[in-house]
Amino acid sequence: MQSWIRRQTYSPELEKTLRRFSSWEVSELILKVNQSTFRGRLAADPSLPAGEVEGDGRQRWYTLDEINEMRRRVKINRRSLLPARPAGKRAFRAAIANFKGGAGKSTVALHFAHAAALDGYRVLVVDFDPQATLSHSMGLSDVAEDYTVWGIMARDLVRETDRMNEASVAAESGAALPRRHIPSSIRDMGLGDLRLPDFIKSTAWSSIDIVPSCANAAFVEFASAQYRHLNPDWSFFAAVSRFLDGLAPDAYDLVIFDCPPAIGYQSMNAVFAADMLYIPSGPGYWEYDSTTSFIGQLAEALEDLSMGFPAGNLSLPKVFQEVRFLMTRYEPGNDLHRAMFDAFRKVFEGHVASHPIEMTRAVEQSGRFLSSVYEIDYRDMTRETWRRARATFDKAYEEFRDTILEAWDRLEDEA
Ligand SMILES: Nc1ncnc2c1ncn2[C@@H]1O[C@H](COP(=O)(O)OP(=O)(O)OP(=O)(O)O)[C@@H](O)[C@H]1O
Ligand SMILES: [Mg+2]
Repeated sequence: MQSWIRRQTYSPELEKTLRRFSSWEVSELILKVNQSTFRGRLAADPSLPAGEVEGDGRQRWYTLDEINEMRRRVKINRRSLLPARPAGKRAFRAAIANFKGGAGKSTVALHFAHAAALDGYRVLVVDFDPQATLSHSMGLSDVAEDYTVWGIMARDLVRETDRMNEASVAAESGAALPRRHIPSSIRDMGLGDLRLPDFIKSTAWSSIDIVPSCANAAFVEFASAQYRHLNPDWSFFAAVSRFLDGLAPDAYDLVIFDCPPAIGYQSMNAVFAADMLYIPSGPGYWEYDSTTSFIGQLAEALEDLSMGFPAGNLSLPKVFQEVRFLMTRYEPGNDLHRAMFDAFRKVFEGHVASHPIEMTRAVEQSGRFLSSVYEIDYRDMTRETWRRARATFDKAYEEFRDTILEAWDRLEDEA
């Protein structure tokens, strides 16, 4: 039924594509160089990307690939335009998480991924939520559950169980671990044979890839309980962390997780794999209430993991490099919102992002696909609305990036 509905609503001309960016946007908003310096540079070197003239014929418009080529090739006052990244570290993993529904997680994840890509970073997003909001907004609407976090977990179960069984055979002492059996119903799905790149899909943004989700992946929450029973020693919560460890350390710069509004097998995988938690919360009192109880529940769940599993090669208890709260749908002129923002800062002190994301009509005005303000062409709406929306996400992103750059240095070096 679901795929029937999908077929009925799918039309190829609605496939998501990424627009070009104007020379005004590229110079002032993306590369942050003076517009006339930028034009002068391009004029002086005809081998640099030329862009295309659109419509009124006054500005040139560039693709993301052209912008990234300029980043690699142009220096301004000897300053490289490439984004900062500490040497010798793997990609940094940030989870956008809150058990509260509708807190703005997917909106924040989408905008931060796009802002980071425009900032020159190579981004992998992982959609942990079977509602698949982020996958849909990145143009992936026809995904099989094998290629979601559910598939990653099932593959991990097979491979980890095989590894444990081999270790128990190899052990010389009589106190070998019990052999665990994976029934053919699971083994024959063939997930154990999938390779890491099989789970990674490209998007309309050339420097953003995604591990997507789909409604059928909701089944994972149900199946995982049975999987744990098949092998109680399987560290189910570390499957995605192991998956990411298997990627080349320099394949991506940032990995951003969009989490479901629930505690469960998938969200525990997200939290366990994350170096940093970024917790969006709406500005209402009840949202504050749910956000604080999220923190309590999460701490309890993480403590349970530490009690229930031997650390071995897992890093338990889980330690985050950083935890930050981010207020969303904030209206600066609203007294209640300002009071809630102050309350957040009293309670969580330096862990509250100082730039909340403001309420904006720009993110609501999208059609078939949820689009970020970065994807919306500013000629399609009031320039002022677009600029204000972009400015609020820019400031929040820059703070997110600077927080990451500090925490990134504290990550262990890759061997
Ligand atoms: N800054 C904003 N301005 C206006 N509307 C917003 C803003 N942020 C989010 N919204 C709207 O709020 C709703 C919920 O946002 P979103 O889907 O990002 O939340 P979520 O936490 O991912 O939800 P869920 O828990 O269901 O995954 C959406 O309709 C979205 O368009
Ligand atoms: Mg969401």
